[in-house]
Amino acid sequence: MYQKIKGTEDLYGEEMKYWYWIEKKAKDLAIRYGYGEIRTPIFEETKLFIRSVGQDTDIVQKEMYTFEDKGGRSITLRPEGTAPVVRAFVEDGMIAQGFPQKYFYIGPMFRYERPQSGRQRQFHQFGAEIFGSSSPIADAELIIFADRLMKEIGLVDYQIHINSLGDIEDRAKYREALKEYYAQHLENLCDDCKVRYEKNVLRLLDCKVDIEYTKNAPKITDYLGENSRKHYEELKALLDSVGIKYIENPRLVRGLDYYNRTVFEIHHQKLGAMSAIAGGGRYDGLIKEIGGKDVPALGFATGIERLILALKAENVLVDEIETNVVYIAYLGGFDVKAEAIRLSEELRREGIPVGLELMERGLSAQLKNAARVGAKFTIIVGESELERNIVLVKNMETGEQLEFERSFVVSGIKDMITEMQ
Ligand code: HAM
Repeated sequence: MYQKIKGTEDLYGEEMKYWYWIEKKAKDLAIRYGYGEIRTPIFEETKLFIRSVGQDTDIVQKEMYTFEDKGGRSITLRPEGTAPVVRAFVEDGMIAQGFPQKYFYIGPMFRYERPQSGRQRQFHQFGAEIFGSSSPIADAELIIFADRLMKEIGLVDYQIHINSLGDIEDRAKYREALKEYYAQHLENLCDDCKVRYEKNVLRLLDCKVDIEYTKNAPKITDYLGENSRKHYEELKALLDSVGIKYIENPRLVRGLDYYNRTVFEIHHQKLGAMSAIAGGGRYDGLIKEIGGKDVPALGFATGIERLILALKAENVLVDEIETNVVYIAYLGGFDVKAEAIRLSEELRREGIPVGLELMERGLSAQLKNAARVGAKFTIIVGESELERNIVLVKNMETGEQLEFERSFVVSGIKDMITEMQ
């Protein structure tokens, strides 16, 4: 027997109601906030991710699905969505369309991480990117959008963490301060942190092991230059003006290298170790870095699997997917069967989800199946009903059975469904 690859999932059945719920709300909301959809390939040139996400990040060092294709090219399954969207923006000359430009995406991402609840090797993100604005009002709108998304899907128990990483010069000064601070503790740090100290000292703040040292480390916000500080202050004031609650977290550095100034994460209180349900920020240098013009940009992404865990943890009721509101059962020869299929099409044309008996079972087995698939009504067509130009309609909840004239079935069923709602 073949088995799915570790860290991947087959999605079907009851579980899909959560996917429909989130995807529909996220798409509708993105459109309400002025985003257009973008779909990029799930694989890209490996270099794109090394250049954008950063050579020394965990993603590039340990987590990418990289392979050589038959033409000898190094290809990587996308570990995130921002770099591909930026690549498309630069490659297709989208800059010519004026600013700002706003794109959203939904799709699978791939990271070779140790699978556990809320962490998979193939997972799905909904993401949003804004190109062109350097104003804090764009940062504010983005965070408000992320917050609204959480609210609209029904989440309550989450917190928004924000921070500013400053500009390149601010970060250079901060790096020095961190190096100085951690140099005193170097011997006691975990092995990963010893490497991080050499390669990318900011990453030390992310460490889950050396938390004691992180507590007393210098804070980036004390190293922000005038412009970054103003940007951060205005962002916070704008969030305050619409009543968005946030926590300032000076240790928040994010796991990807392309960020500057604003970074944020949303954490769900009931998810334990994998509590980050969304993350993002500003990445003003990235478009230029991968060959485009100097265009400021920002965005965020949320992990759909984690949102589903959060919805379940909060017992949020989501819409059911109703596939068999009406079941059509029949017993008889070809004419009866033809009548059954005609009837099913008439109802489906009216937008009613219909299950048609496909197994040609006996009537009681058909009724049992109608109950199994959750039908509200079962229509029964037989030889004598066909002759009398009627059908029987059984209310599956009450067991009541009515005769309907053939020409009134569709409107009658529609009325009964409306009454039930
Ligand atoms: P990220 O923080 O790496 O950011 O991922 C965003 C979200 O994807 C996380 O908060 C989490 O919910 C989900 N996620 C990440 N890894 C996994 C995993 N292995 N299993 C399940 N869920 C996961 C980015 O990817 C950036 N591209 C976000 C961004 C967009 N920044 C600017 N624009």
